Amino acid sequence: MVKKRTSYVCSNCSYTTPKWMGRCPECGEWNTLEEKDETVVTEQNHRLFQSSPDAVYTHISEVETTDSERVKTGYKEFDRILGGGVVKGSYNLISGHPGIGKSTLMLQIALELSKQCKVLYLSAEESITQVKIRFERLAGKQGCGRLFLSNESNLDKLRAKLEEEDFDILFCDSIQSVYSPSVLGIPGSVSQIKECAVRLLETAKRKDITVFVVGHVTKNGEIAGPMLLEHMVDSVLIFEGDSSLGYRVLRCSKNRFGATDEIGIFTMTSNGLHEVENPSQFFLSDNLGTISGSARALVLEGTRPFLVEVQSLVTSSNLPQPRRVVTGIDSGRLAMICAILEKRCDIYFSNFDIFVNIAGGLKIKTPSIDMPLAASLFSSVFNLPLPVDWAFVGEIGLGGEVREVPGLDIMLKEGARLGLSKIFAPHERSSSGKEKKYPGKTEIIRISHIDEIREHTASTNIFDR
Ligand code: TYD
Ligand code: MG
Repeated sequence: MVKKRTSYVCSNCSYTTPKWMGRCPECGEWNTLEEKDETVVTEQNHRLFQSSPDAVYTHISEVETTDSERVKTGYKEFDRILGGGVVKGSYNLISGHPGIGKSTLMLQIALELSKQCKVLYLSAEESITQVKIRFERLAGKQGCGRLFLSNESNLDKLRAKLEEEDFDILFCDSIQSVYSPSVLGIPGSVSQIKECAVRLLETAKRKDITVFVVGHVTKNGEIAGPMLLEHMVDSVLIFEGDSSLGYRVLRCSKNRFGATDEIGIFTMTSNGLHEVENPSQFFLSDNLGTISGSARALVLEGTRPFLVEVQSLVTSSNLPQPRRVVTGIDSGRLAMICAILEKRCDIYFSNFDIFVNIAGGLKIKTPSIDMPLAASLFSSVFNLPLPVDWAFVGEIGLGGEVREVPGLDIMLKEGARLGLSKIFAPHERSSSGKEKKYPGKTEIIRISHIDEIREHTASTNIFDR
């Protein structure tokens, strides 16, 4: 006789314990432990991949592989993030705040893919008439291809249809609004999301259907529902940006078929999302070169180098604790650079308020922003504008030494391509001592200590140039 056992499973992180607890010790969420009867386990949930009937294991050399086939969506930004196109049969999750443009992006991708594949667009949030109107606005005069729309929020019915028909790609907008009648809970509840996602995955893997699932995010920016969702999918795409700013950034936080450090930049216009092919032009303000405190930074996001603008404003403060207001970079980074400048360059900020901003609202996490940040602080302190055609790149160590950053060569090439006159960059350890040649007239000035930047910025008077 099978002994009946009960265990408690966290609906957020799937942590399992034999005893009920108010708070999950794994993820720290309250009231997420749900009672589960271990003998009730659906067979299908455990059969995502068909194992060979007669062997529990196989020698690695005997496993048959096929090169993962990729389909290009026609959106270079989107394809690059996924590592060169949509992998056939992959299960992808796209998340973001409401109104950021998830549905718009999915519709545009569906429209493009329908030219090559049979696509089903499930919109459980909007009526198909609404979707059709949006399609017409986005598509303009171009045709729709093999694109089918559905409004079915009952996932079991949808899966039955998927079994009958041969669809190549399914878009599900959104996982929070579909439900399965055989599962307890309202649509959007943790148990429904989990079960629907698993069932959809099971059907998709068996029928080799590529799936894009839209997932909402919570107030904290986490994907609403169980963590399991992120563990289960092949890629997690995050669509972010300020709705008030014109552009959106698409990031990949998980990718089983490629790198995760790529970003894609889009602008939202009246006729949908458009790709930004030259981000360097996009993130620079118009009045650079006439105001102090602005410095151009070469940054690398994934494999893509571009220019951004760091703006600093250093003003005297009456406050006992001067203000440090930072947007676009980590406030800890600013505190560290200020401390280094105090210690190594004798520039004191303790009586000054400091405001730092990355123009255009981009968030920069790479340490290569250190040197541009220091240059913009110098420029603001000395009240000397920096020339527009100068750019900075490099990480600063606690001793004030300037360190090499990954991808420096790619960034310098981009700087030369953009026609900058001077790029201040760290020495390259790997170089043979001979300065590399870059096309154009760009002068690369190698910096080994932050004090050298002070000399360069302090000796700059743009009005004499
Ligand atoms: P939407 O894709 O519905 O966002 P989400 O699915 O992430 O909630 O659209 C977001 C916003 O984009 C919406 O407020 C209107 C705007 N928008 C445009 O500016 N231009 C367009 O062509 C479309 C379709 C939407
Ligand atoms: Mg939507």
